[in-house]
Amino acid sequence: MENTAIYNFIDLDRYPINDLAGVAGQRLVEESRTALDRDGSCAMPGFVDQSTVAEMAAEASALQHLAYPGPTEVTPYFFNYDLGKGTDLADDHPLKCKGKRKLSQVAADLIPNHLMLSKLYYSPVLTDFLATILDQPVYRNQDRYQSLNISMMNAGGCQQWHFDSGPMVTTLLLQAPEAGGVFEYVPDLRSDESENFEQVQQVLDGDSNRVKRLKLEAGTLSLFRGHYSMHRVTEVEGSRTRIQAILGFSTTPDLQGNLESSILHYGPRVARIEDREE
Ligand SMILES: [Fe+2]
Repeated sequence: MENTAIYNFIDLDRYPINDLAGVAGQRLVEESRTALDRDGSCAMPGFVDQSTVAEMAAEASALQHLAYPGPTEVTPYFFNYDLGKGTDLADDHPLKCKGKRKLSQVAADLIPNHLMLSKLYYSPVLTDFLATILDQPVYRNQDRYQSLNISMMNAGGCQQWHFDSGPMVTTLLLQAPEAGGVFEYVPDLRSDESENFEQVQQVLDGDSNRVKRLKLEAGTLSLFRGHYSMHRVTEVEGSRTRIQAILGFSTTPDLQGNLESSILHYGPRVARIEDREE
């Protein structure tokens, strides 16, 4: 697709991704890097213009019947089975502490290529923008199911405290709920050296001292380092569905996700597809 079509719905005055080498483009890259280093997150409100994001939300809503709820009780570590293996854990240890997850997701293979959201995701402009911010090559996640997802939360919907498996997550909020559905996170709660279970447990127990909150609006593009920063989405209130697109990128080419995780998150149809093709 022509890059110019993407440029039509991105606020280029604020986010000049068409000219990253220019003065304003360099400033945008610098500010994004600073925010990521300082907060572990970088939010770009109004990245996609309001009329386009409303169109994206309408297109996404039309796919709601294809969204799969997935697991409803999950630990902060999802299905990282090796962590803590062979050790005798207390019943309230974070590795055993399951939180409520209430959302459903449309997997990438069910999202048509002609949607506005797909045009944005598959545009090299977005990949180049991320690569420039991170100062290293960036590739789209190549997993058939996990690469691009649409997450839907109706009233009561939420996501439990968790760490992501990948280093960075890119999201675009397509529709904000009437209330609630706030993104909360604790920057750098763990590191490669330490899982910091003690402080993880404090957060799970309700300690909000280090918790930051991001009030996202529709059209906000967010970059977030979720591997080290534990995060959650608080309960959605009201009748308007919170709709968020999750755009999968990686710094390694040809990233494929875990099939077991895809079956859990997108349903038994994934197993049937894979069986058929074996
Ligand atoms: Fe996450």
